[in-house]
Amino acid sequence: MPLHASHPAVKILSPEDIHRYMDPLSDMLVKSVNLGAAIRFVMPFSKMDARAYWWNEVLPLVQSKQHTLFAAFENQFPVGSVQLIEQMPMNQPHRCEVSKLIVHPDHRRKGIAANLMGALEAHANSLKKSLITLDTKTGDNAERLYKSLGFNAAGVIPNFALDADGKGYHGTTYMYKELRSHA
Ligand SMILES: CC(C)(COP(=O)(O)OP(=O)(O)OC[C@H]1O[C@@H](n2cnc3c(N)ncnc32)[C@H](O)[C@@H]1OP(=O)(O)O)[C@@H](O)C(=O)NCCC(=O)NCCS
Repeated sequence: MPLHASHPAVKILSPEDIHRYMDPLSDMLVKSVNLGAAIRFVMPFSKMDARAYWWNEVLPLVQSKQHTLFAAFENQFPVGSVQLIEQMPMNQPHRCEVSKLIVHPDHRRKGIAANLMGALEAHANSLKKSLITLDTKTGDNAERLYKSLGFNAAGVIPNFALDADGKGYHGTTYMYKELRSHA
């Protein structure tokens, strides 16, 4: 697990690490979704569903190097994670995308998400990417976080996705950040 010099509590997880940390990663995901996180999943969402996500979806993407998975550690266990989608269409080699930033509910407001995003951005820079994009639930705490990190809102699509409780729809805000050193 490589350490990031600028963000020492954040590591890039290998496929073996996903096996090793399957339990804490799943715990973090299941608790976040059941508290309403707008990250694709809808309740009821069980620990088994969370394990299936890490196992069936993330692991192959990490193995094939399409995604880089970052995790923030406390007391030797992951308490937050984010993925960088590196593999893009042929005409967008300069772009990469943020996916599924999650911090365990017991560890929020301590700067963990900001650290994860810092490590992700440093990695994107090292790959000479010049554009990072993402989408996030409009008006959510995550939108505030991304704005505080220098992301710009490109626009809002109303009624884009179901809320985690399945009771209504919410808009999504598309955001981007240019890494000027490679532009
Ligand atoms: C959004 C989320 C990742 C933030 O994680 P976090 O580790 O608590 O965030 P940080 O402590 O790094 O916060 C950094 C900044 O973001 C903003 N922010 C984060 N959470 C906030 C909240 N609950 N209310 C208001 N602002 C918030 C603030 O500007 C904060 O800086 P400050 O604490 O100095 O005021 C976390 O709440 C989470 O996992 N939510 C559920 C999953 C989700 O929605 N992910 C986003 C997918 S696009």
